[in-house]
Amino acid sequence: AQPKLTVLGSINVDHLLQVDAFPRPGETLTANQYDIVGGGKGANQAVAATKLGANVSMIGCVGKDAIGSQFVADFSAMGMDVSGIEAIEGAATGLAMIYVDANGENNIGIWPGANALLTKAKAAEHQSLIQDADLLLMQLESPIETLIEAAKLAKAAATQVILNPAPAKALPEELLEHVDMLTPNETEAELLTGIKVETLEDAQRAANKLHSDYGIKQVLITLGKRGVWLSQDGQGQQIEGFSVEAKDTTAAGDTFHGGLVTALLEGKPLIDAIVFGQGAAALSVTQMGAQSSIPSRQQTEQFLAEN
Ligand code: RIB
Ligand code: NA
Repeated sequence: AQPKLTVLGSINVDHLLQVDAFPRPGETLTANQYDIVGGGKGANQAVAATKLGANVSMIGCVGKDAIGSQFVADFSAMGMDVSGIEAIEGAATGLAMIYVDANGENNIGIWPGANALLTKAKAAEHQSLIQDADLLLMQLESPIETLIEAAKLAKAAATQVILNPAPAKALPEELLEHVDMLTPNETEAELLTGIKVETLEDAQRAANKLHSDYGIKQVLITLGKRGVWLSQDGQGQQIEGFSVEAKDTTAAGDTFHGGLVTALLEGKPLIDAIVFGQGAAALSVTQMGAQSSIPSRQQTEQFLAEN
């Protein structure tokens, strides 16, 4: 059977304003474009993996509202197993207000809504989705105690745990000690280790701390334009990414994760899986929006063949 991925995480509706420059305090400005698109780090990663060819189940919560049911229907139509997504009465689907400026940078404010109601008990309810999976992928837009519960269930069944510690948050040892692969960016790595990551040497020092303090086997620090620093088996190496003209970097990291796990589940070596994720992420920054910017498998393969 095809290996299985379970993504536990957030589902948001992104309200996106494209502006020349971010509004300053007290300023009112008119945007060049407005879009409502599917977002949330969990959903973005699950959609990316599904579009890129993985067998994906998602665990998460939406509100019992129009946009929430639309998302569940869309995910299901693309082939995702949505049996672990619950629509919660009286809650609103999570929401993100996003500004994207002329450089493709963003600024995001979030209202968690139903995502905050993805309780520990709900993770336990979907135990079989976690334990039957080969790989569990999570981020930090869900309650931490839920992530701990899911990670413990995964470890008990030899399901590999990949944690993307975004957005940046300090984390308890009880979570980190169950993680097989951790994928912070520079800011997140600093928050988790106290080591400021500027040079590649800093990246390795931060990785070493994560290996030794929590027993995390694979640490993958994303370095923006400088690509990825991979540390495992006592060795580190840089894997450079692709440079493209950025229109909107929203969900570039999420698309990277979707690609990475898809390739890993296909049995690709880690470095090739990283490059596959980087290719998909590069394509995503050339398009506006989160899920609206995620490329297909075919587009990704073509990009990789040409670059
Ligand atoms: O990683 C990008 C995502 O972060 C957006 O889609 C937004 O919803 C926030 O969760
Ligand atoms: Na994008």
